[in-house]
Amino acid sequence: MQNKDNPSHPNGWAASQNADGVWQNLKPAPGLWVADVPVPEGQPACVVVQQGQMAWVGPEAQLPASYQALPRHNARGALATPGLVDCHTHLVYGGQRANEFAMRLAGATYEEVAKAGGGIVSSVKATRVATEDELFDQAAPRLQALMAEGVCAVEIKSGYGLALEHERKQLRVARRLGEAFGVTVRTTFLGAHALPPEYAGRSQAYVDLVCKEMLPALAAEGLVDAVDVFCERIAFTLAETSQVFQAAQKLGIPVKLHAEQLSDMGGAALAARYGALSCDHIEHLSADGIAAMKAAGTVAVLLPGAYYTLRDTHLPPIAQLRAAGVPMAVSTDHNPGTSPALSLLLMVNMACTLFRLTVPEALAGITTHAAHALGLQDSHGLIASGRPANFVLWPVGEAAELAYWLGQKPDCTIVRQGRIARARSEA
Ligand code: NIG
Ligand code: FE
Repeated sequence: MQNKDNPSHPNGWAASQNADGVWQNLKPAPGLWVADVPVPEGQPACVVVQQGQMAWVGPEAQLPASYQALPRHNARGALATPGLVDCHTHLVYGGQRANEFAMRLAGATYEEVAKAGGGIVSSVKATRVATEDELFDQAAPRLQALMAEGVCAVEIKSGYGLALEHERKQLRVARRLGEAFGVTVRTTFLGAHALPPEYAGRSQAYVDLVCKEMLPALAAEGLVDAVDVFCERIAFTLAETSQVFQAAQKLGIPVKLHAEQLSDMGGAALAARYGALSCDHIEHLSADGIAAMKAAGTVAVLLPGAYYTLRDTHLPPIAQLRAAGVPMAVSTDHNPGTSPALSLLLMVNMACTLFRLTVPEALAGITTHAAHALGLQDSHGLIASGRPANFVLWPVGEAAELAYWLGQKPDCTIVRQGRIARARSEA
């Protein structure tokens, strides 16, 4: 997997062809383009890429003269979406937890599995014994699976180390993955994910450690783009969450929250008061939580993979979120316990089928709104000039095909960070 002699080029990305030129014969994905000149319905569109940036977006017929001589890339009528954004993952961890899948099939709940010593803490053990290189090698194929479907930006959380050196290891691997694979990585410190076994019965002491030692040290090392907490009966209380948020605020780091997944803890309203980027899961989100999120501009991140895996039946309040105008993102929540999902398109299907999102909502959920949930709204999630060239060309008849197929391996072209990361095979 990883080329140890040349770790920055494990997949040949850096040697891939640069994408400069005119990408023509494109079909704009509705709602996901902000063109310099509006594209009339049914007309072929184009995107000009110069020095890795999108320089002009509009109808082919109105391509400015200054770009006419650039090399051409014929997209053959493909649907063009922004590069996908997976805004909630726990991608870096040791081992796997297929045994818990079997326990749950036999009737155990997520909370019972956790109480029986499984759950997050079992991944903590496997993560602590793994070296940084081992964690890199285990995470790399997972990242590649996401990238093969057009993911150009991904959030990666810590939270399986639960001690300074091990959380550092996870976050360093996350950064290395971004550099090695030429993909935008946002790191999130989730030290308050679970109580580590050595702190059993001493929750406050652990939260103090998170706030006073772990977070400041990791932030000083440039490893923390955001701070997250698992606020839940089986994890951390509202007061503990608030303490972690205060520590983040002191350092000027934005927050997000695993909120109201199993019960209504009031976490979303608290997070919104701290101007949270996002509240994630939110199956049990209340009307107060929705209003607070709307007022704060906090994104609702829907995680249908966890809902499905846990065979949850309590739906997130989609209709109310929609009515309130809270932006909804969709993500894999890739993790070894509750969502071993490696396909963002499958999550789109589930968000539509299980949560009743419309196709345009679900596609905005893995692009525009997902970028927002990471604070990347100015650089990712839209096809528009002045942004890095991250886009995907899909050989589909209509956008709904991105949600409709189950388990497709789309023969797409992917432009990532201004380079042709994957080229569609010739017809
Ligand atoms: O997002 N909810 C908490 N954290 C993860 C689960 C992590 C695990 O079980 O390992 C989630 O679903
Ligand atoms: Fe999660």
